[in-house]
Order: sequence, then structure tokens, then C-alpha cells
Amino acid sequence: MLHIALAKGRIAKTVMRRLKAGGWDFPLYDDDSRKLIFTDASGCLKVTLVKSPDVAVYVRRGAADIGIVGKDVLIEEGADDVYELLDLGIGRCRMAVSGIAGRQDVMKKRILTVASKYPSIARQYFASRFQPVDIIKLNGSVELAPLVGLADVIVDIVETGTTLRENGLEAYDEFMALSARLICNKVSYKMKQAELQHFIETCGFSE
Ligand code: PRP
Repeated sequence: MLHIALAKGRIAKTVMRRLKAGGWDFPLYDDDSRKLIFTDASGCLKVTLVKSPDVAVYVRRGAADIGIVGKDVLIEEGADDVYELLDLGIGRCRMAVSGIAGRQDVMKKRILTVASKYPSIARQYFASRFQPVDIIKLNGSVELAPLVGLADVIVDIVETGTTLRENGLEAYDEFMALSARLICNKVSYKMKQAELQHFIETCGFSE
């Protein structure tokens, strides 16, 4: 049996739809269920739904053979000790510096206050521009930060741009293209070649 850890949320929903189209049947799965583990009808594939920063942890430690998670999370959390096998082309988005619409001048401040779920990516971005920053790590709804005066700008992913627009914000600089990746445990890669190949051929993502 091949065990896959999926990042909960948009990625998991898309992957489960693709798997279904590829012939994998998960009788107990539905998008809104609170259940976290699903096995397909043939007993060949087990899916575990985990928080996105934990996907690489599961795969690295062999608690899952493979995982699907956004490249943003892999960069932020570090995933050097797993194989990145495929760019799945789903969950496409951009990492961006954003702030209040029309107030891009704020970027000229001597020390910028930056709110982000991605402190490491944010730190690297501003370091490469020699811009001193005070980084505040938040865990969600980052768009609030400039609106309530918690930060000058945010570093966050932009997919459709709706969240920025609906909160009176705009992207000042979109600096990194992102998408979901298939990662694999190094031992599983050797020991489960056939199962892995079968999964890749039927998961609806290979060309
Ligand atoms: C992500 C991201 C943005 C939003 C971008 O948040 O942090 O807030 O999606 O998508 P959009 O450009 O299509 O509007 P998520 O939905 O994961 O929720 P969170 O803020 O609670 O992390």
C-alpha cells in the first residue's frame, strides 16, 4: 500500500477530484468530512489529510511515502531530505509583497514592518534588497495586518487576488511563482518503485 499525505484545503480537494477521475475510489471521502484518513476501495492507496507545514514532516519521517504540498511551504519549512518528484501544476499562485492600495511609497521606509505566514521567505526577500525589516509571524488572515496598523506590508501568496481586492490592498511586487509538488520519502522511492509509478500514471497529473 502507498501512503500519501495531502495538504488540507484547496490542494486536497483538487487532488481528491483528480484521483477520482483517474479511477481511484474513496467511498468514505467527501470534501466537508472531518475524517482524516481514507483508504481506496482496492486497498492500494491510503490518504492522510494533514496541515500543509506538516506534509514534509510526515514524508521525511516515513509516516507517509509521498506527499502533495505547495512549493511555498516546502521553501519556508525546508525539505532538503525528501525527493521532489513532480510539479503538479495545480495550486498555482505567486508570493507577493502587498499593502494598502495606492500606498506603495511605504516601501521606502527605513525599517519596514512585515507581517507574514512565511517569515523565512520574507526575510530572504528583503535581505536580497538590503532592506531592514521587522518581521511579525502570523498564522492566517495576514491581510488584516496593514489594515489595523500592525504592519506596513505583508508577504503572502496571491492566487485570484480576491482577498487583496476585497480588503483594499494590492500587490506591490509578485516575486515568486508557486505550485503544488509531489514529494517522496527517500526509502519509499527505492522500495515502492512499482506502486509509485502506478500512482503517478493514474493520479491525473502526469503528461
Ligand atoms: C491564502 C492566502 C491569502 C489567500 C489568497 O489564505 O494566505 O489570504 O489564500 O488567495 P486569493 O488571492 O485567491 O484571494 P487561506 O485561504 O489559505 O487562509 P488563511 O489566510 O487563513 O491562511
